[in-house]
Amino acid sequence: MIKQLDLSEHYNKLNDDILKKVRQVFETQQFVMGSFVSEFEKACETYLDVKHAVAVASGSDAVYLALISADIKRGDKVITTPFTFFATASAIARLGALPLFVDIDPGTFNISIPAIEHALKHNRRIKAILPVHLYGRSADMQSIMELARKYKVCVIEDAAQAFGARCIYKNGYRKAGTLGDTGCFSFYPTKNLGGAGDGGMVVTNDDKIADLLRVLRLHGSPERYIHKYMGINSRLDALQAAVLSVNLNHIEQWNHTRMELAKRYNDLFKEAGLADSIVLPEVPEDLTHIFHQYTIRTKNRDSLRDYLKQEGIGTEVYYPVPLHLQPVFKYLGYRKGSLKQTELASKQVLSLPMYPELTVDQQKFIAGSIKKQIQSSKP
Ligand SMILES: Cc1ncc(COP(=O)(O)O)c(C=O)c1O
Repeated sequence: MIKQLDLSEHYNKLNDDILKKVRQVFETQQFVMGSFVSEFEKACETYLDVKHAVAVASGSDAVYLALISADIKRGDKVITTPFTFFATASAIARLGALPLFVDIDPGTFNISIPAIEHALKHNRRIKAILPVHLYGRSADMQSIMELARKYKVCVIEDAAQAFGARCIYKNGYRKAGTLGDTGCFSFYPTKNLGGAGDGGMVVTNDDKIADLLRVLRLHGSPERYIHKYMGINSRLDALQAAVLSVNLNHIEQWNHTRMELAKRYNDLFKEAGLADSIVLPEVPEDLTHIFHQYTIRTKNRDSLRDYLKQEGIGTEVYYPVPLHLQPVFKYLGYRKGSLKQTELASKQVLSLPMYPELTVDQQKFIAGSIKKQIQSSKP
């Protein structure tokens, strides 16, 4: 059995380090926020090269609070992608603002730059762009920031799947999440930097936004029992910060390994003569894709998925129903056919097993199984 994500090896290796740190939390009894959380925030600031990291209770809260910090209000429009997890857009809608879904680029699965520009030209009350670095592949932040400046809107990056991915920016590199006004991360256990429960973070280079976020996560209360903003309870647990601090020490190595595994998948599929039957992801050498997910495209996705399941290989579909076609967003008025590239991708994508401990033999078995299924289904 090869699971789509298997964390057992990972935690076997790190158990001692993690338990040591967790014991310290119990000794100090600082269970919520406190020094473990601020230590983790500092470490993230250094690793991501960003001025402020504000830990919160989940990635969903991170996006929600980042939108409040950008003063997104009822009736405002926020351009985003429909090919993402629900939390990206629900955060917009919960504020009474309107997600303005635009289509994706079929090669990268990220939000299409011409589609953003088209939306900016033809709509009023657009306040922000919310790109997602999907599957760990960084969105084209250079173009997004240029458009944001031209049209005077802010940028909130959803980097929940891309901790440590690099963005090409002004002839150099910057980490995903650090270019917009704010960047949001999730530390859900399945993420490339995951904890042992829920957790999230907002990062920013803006002192004022950071101050506001630090208050918003504490019920909008800058001092005890004085509530200045409509904040929420979104504190990170010290136990999560303890686990995450240990994992953070390995993230660079893990991201490199993910990239190597992606390269090996591609080589195996090419050697097996499958490059015409399935669309392989491009593997950039420069860590602009950290392969949180390794996702292929194929026309017969569902039958391939069923076959792999019989062979004991776990796969996932991220995401089978695009957000613009979700029942809860019916009021926005999108219909089938509104966003064609997204709808096609949702029928064709398949994410294969991906985690740093995946072995060569496992990858060979997966490639062999896919070859068998594709050959047997050819007329
Ligand atoms: C792109 C994206 N945004 C937001 C979230 C929400 O994060 P969380 O599950 O930590 O609330 C997730 C993860 O589930 C995600 O993948």
